[in-house]
Amino acid sequence: MQPGITLDAAYWQQRYATSQTAWDTGAVTPPLQDYFAQLGAPDARRVLIPGAGRAYEAEYLHHAGYPNIFVAEVAAAPLQDLLQRVPDFPPSHLLQQDFFQLPATPPYDMIVEQTFFCALDPSLRPAYARQCAHLLRPGGTLVGLLFDTTFSQPGPPFGGSREEYRAYFEPYFKFVHFETATNSIGPRQGRELFICLRKK
Ligand SMILES: C[S@@+](CC[C@H](N)C(=O)[O-])C[C@H]1O[C@@H](n2cnc3c(N)ncnc32)[C@H](O)[C@@H]1O
Repeated sequence: MQPGITLDAAYWQQRYATSQTAWDTGAVTPPLQDYFAQLGAPDARRVLIPGAGRAYEAEYLHHAGYPNIFVAEVAAAPLQDLLQRVPDFPPSHLLQQDFFQLPATPPYDMIVEQTFFCALDPSLRPAYARQCAHLLRPGGTLVGLLFDTTFSQPGPPFGGSREEYRAYFEPYFKFVHFETATNSIGPRQGRELFICLRKK
């Protein structure tokens, strides 16, 4: 990370205000879309998408018929973008809050990770795993993508390896899937893990 930078809400709001959003894929990514597609008929599960940005996953699941999709995001601009694209998305499900401060009641059934973990200061990684476990019901799922690579530029994004990540999640989760994604978008091919973890 560059010296003097704090990755707070003002930092992220400025990134959106200046269109420095290279992470934004403009749509739900294929690994998550394929995962969502095999879930079957939509149900009332409570799904949290933290650090959601413009929240294409929320848009996708909302249109698929899931009524309980929640988005947590510190920056206002991407939430407004979501509401413009999806005017009937429930405003009360847009949580403009710090992920680490979210309450665990009622618990969530699923948390979706997409380019949020890599945006956090790496010192927060143990706390990320702990907070995901805190927010999920027993048996709940953490699903998503984690970079399994290093970056030459100062982060964010911050890279890492599956061995490093395993240690954060092992205390709280059973590993259902933790392998290199086979259907990543081009620039991320071979460089990210698809993870599906069940809370113990
Ligand atoms: C790299 S962006 C990824 C956004 C989105 N997931 C995507 O893939 O397009 C990281 C996002 O996390 C948000 N964020 C950073 N720290 C956060 C926190 N503590 N709680 C909630 N959101 C946070 C930022 O505002 C930013 O939108």
